[in-house]
Amino acid sequence: MTSLLSVVNVSKVYQMDGVVFQALDSVSLSIKKGEFVAIMGPSGSGKSTIMHIIGCLDRPTSGKVFIEGKDIFKADDQELAEIRNTHIGFVFQQFNLLRKTSSLSNVELPLIYAKVPANERHERAKATLVEVGLSDKMSNFPSQLSGGQQQRVAIARALVTNPSIILADEPTGNLDSKSGRDIMTIFDRFHKAGKTIILVTHEKDIAKHAKRIISLKDGKII
Ligand SMILES: Nc1ncnc2c1ncn2[C@@H]1O[C@H](COP(=O)(O)OP(=O)(O)OP(=O)(O)O)[C@@H](O)[C@H]1O
Ligand SMILES: [Mg+2]
Repeated sequence: MTSLLSVVNVSKVYQMDGVVFQALDSVSLSIKKGEFVAIMGPSGSGKSTIMHIIGCLDRPTSGKVFIEGKDIFKADDQELAEIRNTHIGFVFQQFNLLRKTSSLSNVELPLIYAKVPANERHERAKATLVEVGLSDKMSNFPSQLSGGQQQRVAIARALVTNPSIILADEPTGNLDSKSGRDIMTIFDRFHKAGKTIILVTHEKDIAKHAKRIISLKDGKII
């Protein structure tokens, strides 16, 4: 079976005040449709950097990334944003919700970018919030939600476009252990439904939910 995602010899070099820092050093990996993979490694090992590159939020210094066989960094910035909208659902450690916006509107946002008509947008956003157990919190603003509930809104926002790949960078990092387990139950459910998930975590208990673990150290896969 061909890979859904291939990362080929990806390096990322940051330059600050004349000092060169290699955050990723020729990383290659490949992920099949439906896989649940965890990326682990010490702080500063390049986990978020590789997630941002896979998630089309940042470009590599060298190397290639293929999603469904397509060389994504051949695209200009606008095309890249479209690839991101179509293929990627991103969940961040800090939730990154719009503060003055209800759960429902937060989840609808990617559908606005995708030019989905209003009626369908509402229906899909509602259905996805129901899937993550928030049917009674659709009108709440983020400040009126617990951390775990905010992360569930963020997961609904990542899923509502039906992306091919769900990327989650320390999604339980800001949550107590009970809320973290609830979030992992949701990822387990999506994995069983055939979704492809790449999850960054420091915690062994969280990584256990994945079927494969990729370890990074000093920007290299070990
Ligand atoms: N914009 C930047 N400019 C310069 N250096 C950067 C930049 N972004 C990241 N780095 C460096 O790249 C390295 C990898 O950062 P990254 O955020 O990928 O680490 P991480 O593995 O996600 O760590 P953590 O577990 O703490 O989140 C770090 O040493 C960091 O300081
Ligand atoms: Mg990180």
